[in-house]
Amino acid sequence: MDKIIVEGGRALKGEVAISGAKNAALPILTTSLLTEGRNTYHNVPNLKDVESIKELLAYLCADVDTEGSTVHIKAAGLCKSEAPYDLVRKMRASILVLGPLLARVGKARVSLPGGCAIGARPINLHLKGLAKLGASITLEHGYVEASADRLVGDDIYFDMPTVTGTENLMMAAVLAKGTTVLRNVAREPEIIALADVLSRMGADIEGAGSSVITINGVAGLNPVEVTVIPDRIEAGTFMAAAALTRGDVTLHQCEPEHLRAVIDKLAQVGAEVTIHGRSVRVKGPEEIASVDIKTLPYPGFPTDMQAQFMVLMSVARGLSLFTETIFENRYIHVSELRRLGADITVSGNSAMVKGVPRLSGAPVMATDLRASASLILAGLVAEGTTVINRVYHLDRGYEAIEKKMAGLGAAIRRE
Ligand code: EPU
Repeated sequence: MDKIIVEGGRALKGEVAISGAKNAALPILTTSLLTEGRNTYHNVPNLKDVESIKELLAYLCADVDTEGSTVHIKAAGLCKSEAPYDLVRKMRASILVLGPLLARVGKARVSLPGGCAIGARPINLHLKGLAKLGASITLEHGYVEASADRLVGDDIYFDMPTVTGTENLMMAAVLAKGTTVLRNVAREPEIIALADVLSRMGADIEGAGSSVITINGVAGLNPVEVTVIPDRIEAGTFMAAAALTRGDVTLHQCEPEHLRAVIDKLAQVGAEVTIHGRSVRVKGPEEIASVDIKTLPYPGFPTDMQAQFMVLMSVARGLSLFTETIFENRYIHVSELRRLGADITVSGNSAMVKGVPRLSGAPVMATDLRASASLILAGLVAEGTTVINRVYHLDRGYEAIEKKMAGLGAAIRRE
């Protein structure tokens, strides 16, 4: 199994291009199920999770062709309407085929994703919403079985904003009869990106980016050619790495508007952040100041950046308090960071980080994507060698991370 080896102590310097967003690409690729024509998607990142969704679409008998970062998908005749356990187990975002399959073929059988390392992650709100649109839903043998002759629009309130839940409902409602109003929805940029793709396909959808989305169902949708938005979490990870190593990194092809909360925190820790259109330059401070971090739904501070900022605070001056409000178990990186010498105490959904003068390299292992990224960051500042095991988590969500880091001067290699 691959591992990544980092020799700490080098400041990251130079320029890096940000890839397409994983969490935008996954729902966007599943919109191909809503039309018979051939769709073209540009700027699709080369990631394990993207491979998994393409594999699932091919399993449903869609034609999937990849040329570099462009993917063509034609789902003319679907031969199945099932997402099997083996595919959902690999990637829980496979649940995103539920809404489009119901809308297009009136039935779907999708393995229930289990809990994962970061929390229980139920899908009750997806199911409650689809039931409100008239789907009959049963849970049998570990599968969600849903069917409906034609979905009918309704008023749906989400108990909490859910990103993939909102996406599933959007993709179901675009072909439903009548009007659907989705309330208390997620407002992430990936939701706006999905709404944009659906609109270009001919859907009538308004309000994405606000907490209420209104969709008037249409009879059919057309294929599209679209470009995936930049990955704000990959960008945020490189920004944190620049600040952490007292480096000077310019990110290109990113969308600073999507990173306001992260940029604001970086400025508070003392980094110098300059924005020029779609480029952002981050210069690390001599001494990292401590800040408190509370994760919140967008536009709040992203849970997907919490672990990376915890590394930053591990070597800051003073104390910082983390509060994780999205997932109940998203401190799995803490015990590994402690092995590198970080001083972190967890109590419930809070973590107190007391900055230490230095971390020291050691072998580590992570069980989640963003936790793995945080361990690479820790390796960049730790004295000596850090070996990160179970690299497949990283490959799920970061395109060529070690190559990009090496391009910025990090001593990092894969074995
Ligand atoms: N929730 C429910 N019931 C539901 C759905 C969600 O209780 O039916 C709860 C969750 O348990 C959680 C909260 O609502 O406590 C928010 O979860 P959400 O549904 O928004 O998460 P998600 O859609 O499963 C997406 C991203 C995650 C990201 C979260 C939060 C994708 C494919 N995944 O997950 O990304 O952390 O939103 O922003 O978009 C990652 O990329 O590493 C990653 C985990």
